[in-house]
Amino acid sequence: MKNSTYITNCAELVDLDSIIDSIPESKGLLTPKSYDLWMERFDKDILSIEKCNGAECHKSVKGWQASNMNIDAISVRCIDARDMVKDTFSEILNIKEVLWAEFSQSEPGKMLPHHCDAIMDDWIEAGAKKYSIFASKAEPGHVFILGEDHYCQPTQGDIIEWHDMCEWHTGMNFGIKSKWLLNVVVTTN
Ligand SMILES: [Fe+2]
Repeated sequence: MKNSTYITNCAELVDLDSIIDSIPESKGLLTPKSYDLWMERFDKDILSIEKCNGAECHKSVKGWQASNMNIDAISVRCIDARDMVKDTFSEILNIKEVLWAEFSQSEPGKMLPHHCDAIMDDWIEAGAKKYSIFASKAEPGHVFILGEDHYCQPTQGDIIEWHDMCEWHTGMNFGIKSKWLLNVVVTTN
């Protein structure tokens, strides 16, 4: 893998199915279907995280306009998972502080355009690390792409570390069951 490193599998320690089942269906925000609304969402939701207030944010979601995707297929539900990650993953990932943590739920037939996430300057200054945790059971059609690394039908509980928090990435669900991914940015002890 060029843009990520396999860390461990947490499935024996964390009951990811139960965590997913405990999330109310009404919780979370749907990813906006336009570039402008996406940027607005960054302002409202990501920048409003207490830790990030006042920090300069590198916003770059340029892939949206280049992707030429079917707009009806662009949809992911994002759910704040900071408390759960602090409670559940502190030991596994040697976490000092959770800076950002979000579940994304992607229904069959839904996808995202290639994009870069918003990154805060103080995350970089703090030497933060970014991990993706494949949360749902391995299913045909579940795909996550990070730079040049492709994760197809990933194993539930596998945790990978991003080499660059600003890396281009995308995800899609060509399967028949929901795809759940947990992305976290943390400082470590
Ligand atoms: Fe993203």
